[in-house]
Parts: sequence; C-alpha cells; structure tokens
Amino acid sequence: MPGVTIKSHREIELMREAGKLLAEVHNRLAEEVSPGISTWDLDKIGEELIRKSGSVPSFLNYEGYPASVCVSINDEVVHGIPKKDRFIKDGDIVSLDIGLIHNGYQSDAARTHAVGNVSKEALDLIEVTRQSFFEGIKFAKAGNHLHDISNAIGYYCIERGYGVVRDLVGHGIGQEMHESPQIPNYPQKRKGILLMAGMTLAIEPMINIGRGDVQFSDDGWTCTTEDGSLSAHYENTILITDGEPEILSL
Ligand code: MF3
Ligand code: CO
Repeated sequence: MPGVTIKSHREIELMREAGKLLAEVHNRLAEEVSPGISTWDLDKIGEELIRKSGSVPSFLNYEGYPASVCVSINDEVVHGIPKKDRFIKDGDIVSLDIGLIHNGYQSDAARTHAVGNVSKEALDLIEVTRQSFFEGIKFAKAGNHLHDISNAIGYYCIERGYGVVRDLVGHGIGQEMHESPQIPNYPQKRKGILLMAGMTLAIEPMINIGRGDVQFSDDGWTCTTEDGSLSAHYENTILITDGEPEILSL
C-alpha cells in the first residue's frame, strides 16, 4: 500500500471531480433500490452510470472482485457480490458501496438504504451509522490526529449500544483506492498520524445492531455479522484542510 500522500492543488481538483461524479452515481442508483430488483441489475445499472460519467469502476476485478458495486443486504456488512437470483425485498436494508476512477483519481463512497417497510431498529441503525461518520469528521482537520476521528466514531456508536466492526477499516485514497493510513472506526490507544491539509481519506464506519464480530462467506468476499444482526455502512471520500473538511463524494 502506498504511503500517506499530500495532494497538490491539481490533484485535489481531480479528486473533487471524481467525488462529484460518484455522488451523482449514488443518487441515481438509490432511485433503483426497490422491491423486486436483483442485485445483479443494480450492479449493471451502477456500472453504466459510472461509465457514462467518463469514469472506470474501481471495484471491478480489484483483487478478483467480480462487480462494480458491492450490494450488501441486512446482516451482510460489506462486499456482497451481485447475483442474478438475489432480489431486494420490502423491509430490507441495502448497503451500496461504489468506487470510480476519473482522470486517474479515485473516489469511494457507501450508503445504506431502507426499502419500504423497515423496522424502527433498522432505521435507527442506519441513522447512527451515518451520524457516526459526521461525528468522526468533526475532528478531521489539520493539526488533529487520525485516531481522534476513530475515537469519535467508535464512542458515538458504542455509547448507543451498537457493535463496531473492527476487521475492516477506512483508508487513504488518491491514485490508488487503498492508500495509507488505515482508519479504524474503533477507539484507539495511540494517537495515530498527524493530519495535514491535502490528505484525502475514505472514512467508512460499518456498524452492527449486535456485536461487531464478522465472518467471511465461502464466496471469499461477502462479509456478514457473526450473530446475524443487521449491519449498516456509510462512507465518503473527504479532504483534510486547515479548517472544516471537504466531503468530496456527497
Ligand atoms: N469501499 C470498499 C473499500 O474500501 C470497497 C472495496 S470492494 C472491492 O475497501 F471489491 F473493491 F474490493
Ligand atoms: Co472504502
């Protein structure tokens, strides 16, 4: 994994463009998430939206991943593989994780959608997960330390009784999808690296109603909660500045 990089003004402009296009893909694909659609079709529509924007899907063939969009339903945490015979149904919570490359620069973002009649428990999980990202990025500014973000995300969720996934983390991003540093969503003992203006980071809490433990399925990718509880995911690519962070993929 490449080291922590500080992006130039030109690179930041390219990261902004990639992020804006990814936000648009997410918004358009969200409209397709409804009962009866297959996860396969969501992937195909997502891939077409990415390509129409003049971008390349970054997940496709990444370490052998076979699709452009990760579709993870209910107890699936992340990396759900789209399938022709897997259909979205009323009451599901559906996490869509999408990455693209535009003019050589990457953006990565995830959202969890509630489909139709969803339990209050599930809606609360989705909202806590999303809010934990915003709690985290309150600390995402030059002069703070990386784990200030991790601690804010982690404590926000733990205090509310949720399980934080520890086996998967956020990451630096730029010309590569995964750059240093790794960004845990769980409280840390050490302070982590000093944040500097020009760093671009993908911050992505993965939060469970039950315990934070996860397992990987036989397909080698799909990550599910060990206790079968529901899981949500929220991710954006952000830019560290001397002031407020800029959310590039929203
Ligand atoms: N947002 C995920 C990540 O950070 C997506 C990777 S899925 C993969 O790592 F298929 F590309 F591996
Ligand atoms: Co990511």
